[in-house]
Amino acid sequence: MSVYYREVANEVDLFTRCYEQQLPLLIKGPTGCGKSQLVAHMAEKLKRPLVKVACNEDTSSADLLGRFLIKGNETVWQDGPVTRAVREGAILYLDEVAEAREDVIVALHPLTDHRRELYVDRTNEELVAPAGFMCVASFNPGYQRGFKELKPSTRQRFVTLSLSYPMPELETEILHRVTEVDLKTCQRLVELGNKIRGQRHLELKETVSTRLLVHAARLFKSGMSLRQACLFGVGQCLSDDVQVLEGLKDLIHLSM
Ligand SMILES: Nc1ncnc2c1ncn2[C@@H]1O[C@H](COP(=O)(O)OP(=O)(O)OP(=O)(O)O)[C@@H](O)[C@H]1O
Ligand SMILES: [Mg+2]
Repeated sequence: MSVYYREVANEVDLFTRCYEQQLPLLIKGPTGCGKSQLVAHMAEKLKRPLVKVACNEDTSSADLLGRFLIKGNETVWQDGPVTRAVREGAILYLDEVAEAREDVIVALHPLTDHRRELYVDRTNEELVAPAGFMCVASFNPGYQRGFKELKPSTRQRFVTLSLSYPMPELETEILHRVTEVDLKTCQRLVELGNKIRGQRHLELKETVSTRLLVHAARLFKSGMSLRQACLFGVGQCLSDDVQVLEGLKDLIHLSM
């Protein structure tokens, strides 16, 4: 396997069962906790192509399903990623699905329930997803820009997996494996991460992710001091508030 993913709570098993039972899966969790890594790993494990779509409020159903393009004096149909994923029997990964407009999500409802059908209105095609197709979506319930929530009728189409930051021993192992930085240093980084995670009074929108610890470890590996690596790779990334940053700096200075 070339995509490394360290299982934290039986999620590989759950993902596999959903694939086998043809159930869509929603992965929720804070930024940088390994959602995308898990999906990439599972696509490789299940030997399916992976089609990723980053959703945002401007995503239209044509962006997902496809559109007619003018080429010379011809109009040719071009599949969007969702249509392509259905045709190929791929794993379709809708990243940040809650950012997409409701009408766009609702257009995917028949694909994400027992029907497993995609209706492409512009070409008047009704595609039935082959056995290899699986829909996986992710969203981050933490930061609530305008409090975006998925409708219950969407939520209840998906089996739901909640991911969080791994326990210290596991997170240390992940850092070590991903960055090849020595275990002792990885352990110190994880300790710092957990110290910051415990500082609820800082009121960070999102706290230290495994991703940030990976960044700090990489900076350290490049020859930067551990303290600097943590300031640039972790502290500065968490807030723009001067006072909060001072608090973070103090923590880093005390720990590194
Ligand atoms: N369980 C894990 N196994 C292997 N790597 C992990 C794991 N958890 C986190 N990581 C590492 O953390 C980093 C961030 O992971 P990833 O990009 O999957 O986060 P994400 O949850 O998709 O975040 P976002 O919501 O911001 O997209 C990657 O470098 C990844 O290798
Ligand atoms: Mg991701």
